[in-house]
Amino acid sequence: MIEHRVTEKMLAIINEQIDKMERDKKVDSVFVDAVVDFFETYADRTHHGKEEDVLFRELEGKNMSDKNTALMKELIEEHKSARTATLRLKEAKKEYLKGDDKAAGTMIGQLQFLTNLYPEHIMKEDKIFFPETENHFTTSELDEMLRKFTEFDSRIIHEKYNNLINNLKER
Ligand SMILES: [Fe+2]
Ligand SMILES: [Fe+2]
Repeated sequence: MIEHRVTEKMLAIINEQIDKMERDKKVDSVFVDAVVDFFETYADRTHHGKEEDVLFRELEGKNMSDKNTALMKELIEEHKSARTATLRLKEAKKEYLKGDDKAAGTMIGQLQFLTNLYPEHIMKEDKIFFPETENHFTTSELDEMLRKFTEFDSRIIHEKYNNLINNLKER
């Protein structure tokens, strides 16, 4: 939930920038790079990663209600759509830099998709899924899960920069 609050701050910034891009009829590609990095590394790898690889995996061994089992699938689908939108944003930015002006509209569209998707996704997790599934765990299981979250987070920075080195080598 702490990470949701950070994501909401990013969504507010994006919304302001969308207005500006539409007003000025141009896209700030450096801003788009920062947004792509945020969604790839923070929202997806770090945040969805802990949800899918730790919390959701642990919940698979629990007796969840049909409603929450369906909701978990829905949340995973929403993670996939966010991933696809980020990829499209990244591709459109490349086309834009090559001189394709139409790519500006694609970028704005994907940014709008992300700012529309996340508030509801976050609300479903904060208000329904997290509180309703938390009681499947004992206090010591919850403590253990927090430890796994911390361990998961500690790997990301190394993974990110190892990937950077590999990508730079391939250029
Ligand atoms: Fe999520
Ligand atoms: Fe989340």
